[in-house]
Amino acid sequence: MSKDQVVIFDTTLRDGEQSPGATMTHEEKLEIAEMLDDMGVDIIEAGFPIASEGDFNAVAEISRRSKDAVICGLSRANFKDIDRCWEAVKNAGQPRIHTFIGTSPLHRAIPNLTMDEMAERIHDTVTHARNLCDNVQWSPMDATRTEWDYLKRVVEIAIKAGASTINVPDTVGYTAPEESADLIRRLIAECEGGQDVIFATHCHNDLGMATANSLAAVAGGARQIECTINGLGERAGNTALEEVVMAIRTRGDIMPYTTGIDTTKIMAISRRVSTVSGFLVQPNKAIVGKNAFAHESGIHQDGMLKNRENFEIMRPEDIGLSGTSLPLGKHSGRAALRAKMDELGYELADNQLADLFVRFKSLADRKKEVFDEDLIALMRDEAADDQNETLKIKRLRVVCGNTGPQEAELTMEIDGTDHSIDATGDGPVDAVFNAVKMLFPHNARLELYQVHAVTEGTDAQATVSVRMNEDGRIATGQSADTDTVVASAKAYINALNRLVTRRAQTDVGYDEKGVSYKDS
Ligand code: KIV
Ligand code: ZN
Repeated sequence: MSKDQVVIFDTTLRDGEQSPGATMTHEEKLEIAEMLDDMGVDIIEAGFPIASEGDFNAVAEISRRSKDAVICGLSRANFKDIDRCWEAVKNAGQPRIHTFIGTSPLHRAIPNLTMDEMAERIHDTVTHARNLCDNVQWSPMDATRTEWDYLKRVVEIAIKAGASTINVPDTVGYTAPEESADLIRRLIAECEGGQDVIFATHCHNDLGMATANSLAAVAGGARQIECTINGLGERAGNTALEEVVMAIRTRGDIMPYTTGIDTTKIMAISRRVSTVSGFLVQPNKAIVGKNAFAHESGIHQDGMLKNRENFEIMRPEDIGLSGTSLPLGKHSGRAALRAKMDELGYELADNQLADLFVRFKSLADRKKEVFDEDLIALMRDEAADDQNETLKIKRLRVVCGNTGPQEAELTMEIDGTDHSIDATGDGPVDAVFNAVKMLFPHNARLELYQVHAVTEGTDAQATVSVRMNEDGRIATGQSADTDTVVASAKAYINALNRLVTRRAQTDVGYDEKGVSYKDS
């Protein structure tokens, strides 16, 4: 049976990063792009260049540094967006312009265009993109809720105008597997030129069917899957790269396809994306969750010891997880730490290793055994500390007792100057957050406060995640410490620092209103 190649199009840096609170720094985006290129992703959607200076610069730099992957930028259906996108991607070894417009009745109402006006705009904008770049992808946003006749008409227009990839987005995660396969099958069979282009599938996970819908689309003839690491993305996220790739690899018997992904790099990039986006991976997440390869129950363990295949359909090594993991302790040296970090997929420069070693020693003094998860949490903390910091904790002391209120004494550096305050609260965390707010007044609402134990035992580190919302600007923060209150304070400050950065950024979003599409 010959195996068809399925192109993997990763949009972690565009659709994933667009997820509220998942904003990454410039350096983080470059690092993730390099990891995606190294793992064999065919096309990297590096960002939405018109959205902000930051997005433009990241796409341009990723393009300049690209190795094997095609680098793609997103643009709305107007000349100004497309020109900006081309400026950003033109220095890639293999550039692509991706342009889109919402074609369903609800989305057509946003720019207030008639069907004919929209059809004309699609013709003009795809032609314009094609005059700049010979690799153009076009998407009818909300395709799965677009009337069939109109969808067929606009797809044919885009193909005639020179798009070589037609992406079929299920923007709101509405479709189901059979429908997904049928839609692609019909587009290929019935559109003029449908057999001369690649059809792509782009699914969102609102009903938990993104992976199934993407694989069904491939069965229907799609040969490009659009996906993100860890399924990162707005609302319930996008199709998870690791799920479609491992499904194709594991079930080659019923899915005779192949991808160019080096699956042993999956775990490292999953951890890195989780760290830089601030979105923790749920423990029972398929493929990359902490429990995905844990066989805890007695019956399972017995079966596993007799024959791994009793309960394991994939090997941990296939995704880059080492079999057994020995913890480090306070006598472990730099070489052991370096070896462990290599095994976990972190390539550290000497100065990074030196910084980590100091933190590791401090943790090992407080905790008997330092597990892989502890080291990953330390790396997360280090990434948070690397952000541009307006706020830094200098000293924190909390007084607790069984009769409240609890008290916090905090000294915080704000823009280089130390400020101190005492505050009370309903519990130690509330007291600390009140102290931060008194020293750095803000209107951000705390939308989420979560504590997880990184490992087991009373000396375990706690990872704290917070999400703040300031007038619709969302920022997440994370930190880990053996002291839950300290971890909470650091996570809160981490989120506030990100919020300060976000205040300086502008987002254009997807609104088509007021855009004169021929302006350039
Ligand atoms: O979900 C969607 O429709 C998109 C498009 C911009 C392709 O992300
Ligand atoms: Zn999307």
